[in-house]
Amino acid sequence: MPGLGNIRKPVSDEMDHFETYFSRTIQTKIPLLKIILNYVFRRKGKQMRPLLVFLSARLNGEISEPSYVAATLIELLHTASLVHDDVVDNSDERRGALSVNALWNSKIAVLLGDYLLSKGLLISIEKNRTDMLEIVSEAVKSMTEAELLQLQKSRKLNIREEDYFRIITGKTAALISACTACGAKSATDDQDVINLMKDFGESLGIAFQIRDDILDYESTGLTGKPSGNDIKEKKITLPLIHALGNVPSPRKKQILGIVGNGRKSGQDIAEVVRFVMENGGIEYATMKMNQYRDRALAILDTYPGSEVKNSLLEFVNYTVTRNK
Ligand code: IPE
Ligand code: IPE
Ligand code: MG
Ligand code: MG
Repeated sequence: MPGLGNIRKPVSDEMDHFETYFSRTIQTKIPLLKIILNYVFRRKGKQMRPLLVFLSARLNGEISEPSYVAATLIELLHTASLVHDDVVDNSDERRGALSVNALWNSKIAVLLGDYLLSKGLLISIEKNRTDMLEIVSEAVKSMTEAELLQLQKSRKLNIREEDYFRIITGKTAALISACTACGAKSATDDQDVINLMKDFGESLGIAFQIRDDILDYESTGLTGKPSGNDIKEKKITLPLIHALGNVPSPRKKQILGIVGNGRKSGQDIAEVVRFVMENGGIEYATMKMNQYRDRALAILDTYPGSEVKNSLLEFVNYTVTRNK
């Protein structure tokens, strides 16, 4: 499996420059904030969104100042959404360490998320790039709507496959398609191209979240996030939705009974995981994920051969095979 190292090669200078650019924007004089920001950004994550912005820009022209603004804005909003997500999901681990809500508390996590969000808004205004802000704000709106829909569905345990796709398109693919759209927009004015790149990001983002949901069923220990947390939080994702559709109604009720129980034991979670494995849940989710991978690859194939195109092809393949 290729790591992100090779993929980043055509834009590695820009990614290095981005580091400096990014850390400058998150400077603060407020002591507590400084401590928390240091803690959060010492573990950088994969930084695949900025990488995607730069690769998408290069694929369609030249990397420019607006590419940096978009990458910064998006990484800030992404981090804000993770900090908030761990509150919503009651998750105590992120990037291999305690989450902000676990180490401090959820009040601090909510406020920190807001701070990161406002920093993102400010940088796009300061740099006069409201065009990037517009694309990203649409994504943030979709993310919030989707998170709400997900909460509602997990309360009622009545999620169908089409709901699942609506949720992941909003909560994950929207921001990933903002990366590819902003990247393209920073390099070209051709709206057809920008739209095509947006579609590319959407398919890639859907595949990315399906992989994330499959990883929650695997305990590789590499994700830096607790596995089994989705079931624990009554989050019914594609592998489980499919497995539930494969069994008679009494069995379905029994499994939903376990998922719906607010105080599940480790054994309960293991039972649901086994159920999903035995009823084709992982295979089906993988098959669906690969359909979106193929859509993304088909869009890339409309471009002539180049080093950056190869990187993006590898990026897509990395997304669906990654273990973290
Ligand atoms: C995690 O995103 C949130 C999802 C959309 C599943 P990443 O897996 O890109 O998180 P980091 O930034 O690498 O930690
Ligand atoms: C992605 O969903 C949430 C965001 C878009 C922030 P998850 O809840 O599955 O993400 P992880 O697994 O906690 O990173
Ligand atoms: Mg989560
Ligand atoms: Mg997850």
